[in-house]
Amino acid sequence: MIKFANLDQRASHLSELMDDAQAPLLYLHNTYRDFFYLNRLVSQWRRIYKHKITPLLRRDPNKSFRLLDVGCGGGDIAYYLLKWSQADGYNLQITAIDLDERAIRWAEQQQEKQIQQQNQQLEQGRQQIEFRVASTRKLLDEKKHFDLVISNHVLHHLSDEEVSVFLEECQQLGSTVICNDLERHPISYLIYSACFPLRFRKSFIYEDGRMSILKSFTQKELQKWSPNNWQVTTLFPFRLLAIYHEKPTEKESLDSRAREVSV
Ligand SMILES: C[S@@+](CC[C@H](N)C(=O)[O-])C[C@H]1O[C@@H](n2cnc3c(N)ncnc32)[C@H](O)[C@@H]1O
Repeated sequence: MIKFANLDQRASHLSELMDDAQAPLLYLHNTYRDFFYLNRLVSQWRRIYKHKITPLLRRDPNKSFRLLDVGCGGGDIAYYLLKWSQADGYNLQITAIDLDERAIRWAEQQQEKQIQQQNQQLEQGRQQIEFRVASTRKLLDEKKHFDLVISNHVLHHLSDEEVSVFLEECQQLGSTVICNDLERHPISYLIYSACFPLRFRKSFIYEDGRMSILKSFTQKELQKWSPNNWQVTTLFPFRLLAIYHEKPTEKESLDSRAREVSV
């Protein structure tokens, strides 16, 4: 049954079922599995890859490009980015982290299964995603740095104050950061509530999805909690992108101007 909800303010106090340490593993694993379908449908990473990530890769096509996926869950976004970038001939080295050990174990097992399904020839030259149980803080302590840091559906997990800290940490870890999340909107809540119970069984996707919309931000709210040099934009349908670009060095500016002139 669809219950009406007040979406005027974010309901950051709600806890998603998948975050419960006692959650039944069958439901949790089905939820990770369902992310592979749901994110392809709603999260728009194919468009983000094409319009925001490919231009970064094109700057130096032979470079080994380091990408960090924070809060990777079952690893589906990292998996698709690797697949698309390989098809385009780029060399992406992906690290994917999550605080939840259960998510990382599941993602590692899926990767292992896929490698076993490949033939021997493919296996040898195949890049792999490095999955780790870790936080952004831990990677900063290890002095890691990446060309691009991404996250999908992590921001709405955090309180307003935690979002500011999280974005600061992502900014320190990456030259560019793209955080993709839901935009809180009554229409998306209604559409999701009406359509999605049909598809997912023995999974937390339906309840957690609705809760996630209630916990998510409006564009104005997320801009308010973002550090100064971040820009929050909307993406159809009902999505927010919080984006940060490191200021280019003088040499990079000159190189980029030289490239523009030579085109
Ligand atoms: C809704 S899931 C999204 C998973 C995946 N990114 C996707 O879109 O399918 C959010 C994940 O973020 C993780 N998470 C929340 N806060 C985090 C943080 N500060 N650092 C790393 N992971 C975090 C949770 O453990 C959870 O697995």
